[in-house]
Amino acid sequence: MNILVCGGAGYIGSHMAQWLGEAGHSVTVLDNLSTGHREAIKWGELVEADLLDPASMERVFSARRFDAVMHFCARSLVGESVRQPYDYYANNVTGTLHLLEAMRRHGVERLVFSSTAAVFGNPVSELIDEDHPKAPINPYGASKLMVERILADAADAYGLRSVALRYFNAAGALSEHGIGEAHACETHLIPNALRAALGTGPALKLFGDDYPTPDGTCVRDYVHVQDLAQAHALALEFMDREAGAHAFNLGNGQGFSVREVIAASARVAGRPVPHEVAPRREGDPARLVASSQRAREMLGWRPVWTDLDAIIDSAWRWHQAQAF
Ligand code: UFG
Repeated sequence: MNILVCGGAGYIGSHMAQWLGEAGHSVTVLDNLSTGHREAIKWGELVEADLLDPASMERVFSARRFDAVMHFCARSLVGESVRQPYDYYANNVTGTLHLLEAMRRHGVERLVFSSTAAVFGNPVSELIDEDHPKAPINPYGASKLMVERILADAADAYGLRSVALRYFNAAGALSEHGIGEAHACETHLIPNALRAALGTGPALKLFGDDYPTPDGTCVRDYVHVQDLAQAHALALEFMDREAGAHAFNLGNGQGFSVREVIAASARVAGRPVPHEVAPRREGDPARLVASSQRAREMLGWRPVWTDLDAIIDSAWRWHQAQAF
């Protein structure tokens, strides 16, 4: 298939391009390289375009015929979204509308959309399944939920087939392919812990140890980027069978606290992770753990990376390679 990977120079998008390229698909990466990396594009051709520029979208869709689009472009930092909501609604909602409009004009009827656990807000149950109330507590989650609503409306009005995949905590890397998590300003736990262990980053700040969790630190569900890519590939097949707009939660179903992640990172690295307790970070729910039963049953998703140490080890190899 000819697949357009929007945001294919970024962390999850580049792992998707790797999966698609290995599976024999023809990949076109659309990216404005604002946060993505040119060197991460190894499995397809780059077209530099911007979702906020409808004319550039028109050029991309006029030049090629796509069977499906995978949409990873987004601003995705919770705290930043609270401080800069207009940027989040513009990039994540308006940008997606431009993409959808170009798809409609050019008859492209399949979309896999990157959504997030942040659409749920503060959890009201131990495991979060798709029926959990959607009450985002920050502009990032709200922007993604708005797009999910737009996709449902697009299914009714234009027959667009779509799958929204709500990632919990994406983690890990494929260092053997030279791709991994490389954010200019890193905010995520595992890379910050590993960089602290390596000495390429400052001591980790542990944001809050007074949460209502067993050890007082936040609990998250870490899922490997390659398993996320697998789910996207299965979503493509699913859309051949099913019309309409669908959404699935993607996680391993197991929660690990920040302290457990620090301990696992130290184990994997074979050296301590320097860290200090700091105040809570704004907008962090105490616990986010997925039920991915629906993705397992309806997509046939089988995460391969179910062991936290193995996930962190894959990230560790990537960070070590970056340090030399
Ligand atoms: N944390 C630290 N120190 C750090 C970084 C993170 O203690 O340097 C803590 C956070 O406070 C949080 C946990 O580690 O408790 C995980 O934080 P991340 O930043 O790695 O990930 P988030 O859980 O904040 O983010 C994820 C997804 C987002 C999604 C969000 C929903 O990456 O896309 O969950 O809350 F929006």
